[in-house]
Amino acid sequence: MALTLDEAISQSCEMMRDTQTFVRAVLSGRRRNMQTHTARIDIRPVKIKEAIMLQIMENDGRQTTTTNVDPLTFDLQALVSSGFANILVEHAAGSMSIRITKKQEPLVHFEKGENKQNLEHDRVKSRLLDSSDPFLKEVGIADNAGHIKPSRQDKYKQVEEFLRLLAPTLESAIEAGHIHQPTQQNPLSIVDLGCGHAYLTFAAHQYLRSAGMPVQVIGIDVRKDSRTRNVAIARELGIEPTIEFRAEEISQTTLTSADVVIALHACDTATDDAIAWGINNGAKLLLIAPCCHHDLQSQMQNSPEPWSLITKHGLMKERFADLLTDSLRAQILKLHGYRTDIVEFVGGEHTPRNLMIRAIKTGAAPEPAERQRYEELIRLWGVEPALMQRVKSSI
Ligand SMILES: C[S@@+](CC[C@H](N)C(=O)[O-])C[C@H]1O[C@@H](n2cnc3c(N)ncnc32)[C@H](O)[C@@H]1O
Repeated sequence: MALTLDEAISQSCEMMRDTQTFVRAVLSGRRRNMQTHTARIDIRPVKIKEAIMLQIMENDGRQTTTTNVDPLTFDLQALVSSGFANILVEHAAGSMSIRITKKQEPLVHFEKGENKQNLEHDRVKSRLLDSSDPFLKEVGIADNAGHIKPSRQDKYKQVEEFLRLLAPTLESAIEAGHIHQPTQQNPLSIVDLGCGHAYLTFAAHQYLRSAGMPVQVIGIDVRKDSRTRNVAIARELGIEPTIEFRAEEISQTTLTSADVVIALHACDTATDDAIAWGINNGAKLLLIAPCCHHDLQSQMQNSPEPWSLITKHGLMKERFADLLTDSLRAQILKLHGYRTDIVEFVGGEHTPRNLMIRAIKTGAAPEPAERQRYEELIRLWGVEPALMQRVKSSI
């Protein structure tokens, strides 16, 4: 017989209290009409001075707070019932996942499988991705013992930073109904355009799956050698059914739809190809970290006065052209029904660029003044953004 919500939650708490077999738990998402005090909670058993405690890591999207509690006296039931929509508990012989629907009904799923306990106290600290996740070893960020290689700390930091932006953005878009609630039958589809060595593609796949979210991920890169390498890694990790790679130009890709587009440091106008693909194919969420820009800089021949004060210095002109390019990209997204903001994101190893354009499709019609602002700005500078040339629908 199907479990009631209370029964399912009690059973999940019992599994967590059984510290002989409990491996880890993740609480994420938000139940309808409920607020959670943090975006995600990770729980796992840790050994502190010979006693087994539960380590509770609360992540609000930017920061993680860790506390250790006694499994026998801590009120787990209250924590698990505090408004999270997804509850995943892994134990030595399998897992239990609960998804609480809009009608407050539990969809409970049990799976068999072997999971290993790790009781080390300082293992993960405030990281979202467990440094012993096998994907980090396969992509060359961690060594065989699961330690981050000193030479790859920057890349690891970038991966973590990316997940810290992705997770809460995605969760709030699902809660607001801008993205459907992913299910096994209808998983969240994510495309990484210009994925390169696919550090972020694999990271998104592993992290979201570890939070119990069904996903289907596709990495696209023009380089055939990247595809060969990435496919081999996916095979090694045994995740081929839910991750795929194609060697294609972004502008020519055979892919026709995805819920989420990510494009991080794709070169120059490849970023415009990626944004245009998202707009043209109705993507719901775009996370775009632009790379080098040459398009507008080369068009900015005659600066309107008194702006030559800035553009007469080559370095300043370059930086100004970057700002103009990304501001116009954000505005074009807005004019196509996306709520858009630009936030800070760490630069990659090949680029000091540290912005991320974050756009969620709400379908809201822009004010006429927004279109005028856009038109005035491009007229003032005598430029035509590459993105606008690639977008099919008019504004
Ligand atoms: C700087 S790397 C970034 C890789 C990855 N996104 C990351 O952040 O680790 C840029 C990648 O974009 C790919 N790329 C550039 N232009 C492209 C295009 N038009 N179509 C497909 N891939 C492209 C390159 O082959 C390269 O692998």
